[in-house]
Amino acid sequence: MKQPTEIKKPEGKLGVLLPGMGAVATTFIAGCMLARRGLAPPTGSLTQMARIRLGKRTEGREPMIKDFVPLSTLDDLVFGGWDLFPDNAYQAARNAEVLSEAHLKLIEDELSAVEPMPAVFFPEFVKRLRGENIKPQQNKMELAEAVRQDVRDFKQKHGLDRCVAVWCGSTEVHHEPTAVHASLEAFERGLRESDPNISPSMVYAYALMKEGVGYANGAPNLTTDIPALLELSREMGTPISGKDFKTGQTLMKTILAPGLKSRMLGIRGWFSTNILGNRDGEVLDDPDSFRSKEVSKLGVLETVLQPERYPDLYGDIYHKVRIEYYPPRGDQKEGWDNIDLSGWLGYEMQIKIDFLCRDSILAAPIVLDLVLFMDLAQRAGFSGIQEWLSFYYKSPMTAPDLYPENDLFIQLIKLKNMLRWMKGEELITHVGHEYYD
Ligand SMILES: NC(=O)c1ccc[n+]([C@@H]2O[C@H](COP(=O)([O-])OP(=O)(O)OC[C@H]3O[C@@H](n4cnc5c(N)ncnc54)[C@H](O)[C@@H]3O)[C@@H](O)[C@H]2O)c1
Repeated sequence: MKQPTEIKKPEGKLGVLLPGMGAVATTFIAGCMLARRGLAPPTGSLTQMARIRLGKRTEGREPMIKDFVPLSTLDDLVFGGWDLFPDNAYQAARNAEVLSEAHLKLIEDELSAVEPMPAVFFPEFVKRLRGENIKPQQNKMELAEAVRQDVRDFKQKHGLDRCVAVWCGSTEVHHEPTAVHASLEAFERGLRESDPNISPSMVYAYALMKEGVGYANGAPNLTTDIPALLELSREMGTPISGKDFKTGQTLMKTILAPGLKSRMLGIRGWFSTNILGNRDGEVLDDPDSFRSKEVSKLGVLETVLQPERYPDLYGDIYHKVRIEYYPPRGDQKEGWDNIDLSGWLGYEMQIKIDFLCRDSILAAPIVLDLVLFMDLAQRAGFSGIQEWLSFYYKSPMTAPDLYPENDLFIQLIKLKNMLRWMKGEELITHVGHEYYD
């Protein structure tokens, strides 16, 4: 990755393409429409609300991030996407029951105009869903070509030069990389032969990148975590990032675990359970889809606590994560954590968390930030894995052989230093010796 000498200006409109237009996607789209009319605040979004310190603490320079790096504005965003259900974004948002009727009514016309394009869907990858808004092609390369045509049509219809894609579709079943994923050549052959190991999300990611569109992966799907698509991202000069939005319980975990570890407090057990009743919960009720989520959720503590380096404190940790589908709760998830920890002389303590959260309300600002930062990365000439966006993910993508950084605070320092580096500003190390010289 080269330090950019110049970042292209965010001129014109920016297309936002969302494979999957359910609760998260529609909460994001509706939220942008409300926020740009000044009808509700974009709370939770760094690109809209956060400042960044520049230079010494004595300089008093702390601009808004959006004024420091060249980002598209909310007014510039044009929304599109795919779903296997034909509902437009207004109907889908009403079904998701995240936002109030009163909020949705304010933007009904604008939201209703966002209609999903027919999806690429293979039921064996998401077993709990069946829909009719599906592309008719059988061959996987033909499906990829159809998605490419969708992207070109969308750009032409809205007069767009640039697009960014964020996967907001369901969690696919857990699967491991195979020979067909090992190189771009093998993958393209696999597409032509409709290899069963190529998932719908891989077809989208391939097609989008072939059209020069960066791809962010909001689910724990394997998708771009394979050599073939990493190769394509470099070849096409498109950024990729992932995976699995960091919201709810895992967000709490990556806030709390680094704090406990930084004080060298021991942890013997961490039990996490959730109830949720939205469509995501229904999909995750299938053990194969849950397995993808479980892998992504379990990895977090391991890399934060480093049990191999701190065996006395974390060597025997028992970490368990459960998700229970419970329809009455809808999107209003409840997550419980029980943490058994130990302090001075090994004396035991407990922490209990009961987080009454709203899943999509936490995910929507992440989608917005990823859209704007991925577009920034594209204009700065970055391709391949964007590790500086780890802040937003449960299971950050990294270069092969590199362990991911899961500590939320290190991830934030990394993100902000990356923005400073892009703009040729001094990096902030927090040493601060100069104040005392
Ligand atoms: N809400 C959160 O806090 C959160 C956090 C992390 C990850 N996620 C992930 O984000 C994704 C979206 O979550 P959600 O709550 O909006 O789920 P949702 O079920 O409401 O929406 C997902 C949509 O994707 C569609 N879909 C599935 N496969 C598709 C395909 N091949 N092509 C096009 N559309 C397809 C479904 O029909 C559905 O409308 C899920 O994978 C979820 O695990 C959500």
